[in-house]
Amino acid sequence: MKFRAAVGMTSVIACFLTLGACSGRPRGFGTTPNIKHIVMGRCFNYITLVNPSTRYDCEAIWRAFEEAVVKQNSCDVAMEHYRHMFREMPQTRACDRFLFWSKTKKFIQDYTAIAPHFWTLEDTLAGYMFNDLVWCRQQENSGFNFSSCPEWSACLHHPVHSLWRQASKNFAEMACGNITVLLNGSIENAFSKNSMFGSVELDHLNPERVNYVNIRVVTNLDGPSRESCSRGSILDLIHILQSRGFRWTCSDNERILKILQCVQKPEHSWCRTLA
Ligand SMILES: *[C@@H]1O[C@H](CO)[C@@H](O)[C@H](O)[C@H]1NC(C)=O
Ligand SMILES: *[C@@H]1O[C@H](CO)[C@@H](O)[C@H](O)[C@H]1NC(C)=O
Ligand SMILES: *[C@@H]1O[C@H](CO)[C@@H](O)[C@H](O)[C@H]1NC(C)=O
Repeated sequence: MKFRAAVGMTSVIACFLTLGACSGRPRGFGTTPNIKHIVMGRCFNYITLVNPSTRYDCEAIWRAFEEAVVKQNSCDVAMEHYRHMFREMPQTRACDRFLFWSKTKKFIQDYTAIAPHFWTLEDTLAGYMFNDLVWCRQQENSGFNFSSCPEWSACLHHPVHSLWRQASKNFAEMACGNITVLLNGSIENAFSKNSMFGSVELDHLNPERVNYVNIRVVTNLDGPSRESCSRGSILDLIHILQSRGFRWTCSDNERILKILQCVQKPEHSWCRTLA
């Protein structure tokens, strides 16, 4: 369940990153049908089965969400409008477990499967509940528009984008101890200032709460190797971290990160040498 959820949400984020180029989601898609049942069902699932020690009022969360979305014009739902909703879902987590990632969406599922102690945005209640959903309101009305929603790129304050930005901000503000950042060394701009990590999360990490930022670069088994701890945009990230007083480490292609890719590609020559 958890991993399926992660796939969906990362595709939503991938959409933001490639503004307008959301593969698999037809343009002009409306609010996800049955959104209320899905959101409430996921909320009850989370508090009952996924994280039974937590107490949240799923009905109150839904009401605050609906109010944020339907009281504003479709393109005017700002992060602040979700404040009341997020107040209904405070979360804390043990330090040293926060995992941030960018452009490693396929890989992250395998990684969190072998390292379940890591906590990603997808594991928060908000990430879990709103994963892969779309929503916006009707033009002159207080209901959801189920036939069409604006593109992410068409609005300054898109209702979906704003919720994810606020969720990402909260997640980063919570982060403490050693945090891990998983980046993709096979692409240009492994660290992108336009990504959720580069544009929201990085700016809300607190150097007084975060002990170390441990960057891990993972490169595809078949390459290419475009960036690393000593090459490309990851140097920009390190520079930003240093200037803000963070301690950091960076590792290229830890063995475990390569071995994990062998699950998908057991026939690869490097993987065969393991046997
Ligand atoms: C890195 O990015 C490429 C291109 O988007 C993708 O195909 C690949 O799966 C990513 N690698 C990892 C380890 O996530
Ligand atoms: C739904 O949104 C589309 C696109 O913004 C708009 O043309 C349509 O009128 C909206 N429907 C309602 C009922 O507001
Ligand atoms: C935090 O990271 C630093 C640097 O990698 C390491 O020396 C230290 O043992 C880590 N601490 C914990 C609690 O993981």
